[in-house]
Amino acid sequence: MGEKLTFLKTFLQQPSNIGAIAPSSAGLVSMMIESFDWENVQSAIEYGPGTGVFTEGILKSMQEGTHFFAIEQSATMVEATLQRCPEVKIYQESVTNVQELCSKESIQSVDAIISGLPWASFPDDLQNEIMQTMTQVLRPGGTFATFAYWQGLALPAGQRFASRLRSTFSRVQRSPTVWKNLPPAFVYRCTL
Ligand SMILES: C[S@@+](CC[C@H](N)C(=O)[O-])C[C@H]1O[C@@H](n2cnc3c(N)ncnc32)[C@H](O)[C@@H]1O
Repeated sequence: MGEKLTFLKTFLQQPSNIGAIAPSSAGLVSMMIESFDWENVQSAIEYGPGTGVFTEGILKSMQEGTHFFAIEQSATMVEATLQRCPEVKIYQESVTNVQELCSKESIQSVDAIISGLPWASFPDDLQNEIMQTMTQVLRPGGTFATFAYWQGLALPAGQRFASRLRSTFSRVQRSPTVWKNLPPAFVYRCTL
């Protein structure tokens, strides 16, 4: 099955976990990848790789020796990521278990977290739990990047997420909009 079809099919089965009808575009992948100073990233985690479009960019950009793994809860998406990037270490788990996974990987604190999660479609308590557990593993001064859909800014869930970012991180920057994405999106680059 083609990647776009896998994505759409999984969306139709679990709309609020997937949160998008198509994988991120090449423009959005570049915007996400450029949010990090890869020369100074020794440890990185990807949240919700889906079909692995960011994963591929991360593997190309990170330094040799960077400790990297991905966390994806859908078995179909784990398979899709492994098809695109057979060399990646990926756990089929929820990101809420990130602390246990870091212990398993012997990582004390993480420099970079790259997220493809559909934050705006999560209920408030799940958004909160994921954010809390993430800040337990990201080091002070570490970078977190995630994308949001432009139209989401007008919705209560999108506004709630933006305000959660501002109350959690010491610095929150917004990239220009990537118009050639379905739907148009931008990146939040946040420093703990
Ligand atoms: C919108 S897709 C992102 C795919 C890809 N990063 C992209 O931009 O095309 C969101 C992914 O997050 C995964 N996901 C949702 N909730 C999760 C959770 N609690 N733990 C791990 N993965 C999760 C979904 O299964 C899905 O593959």
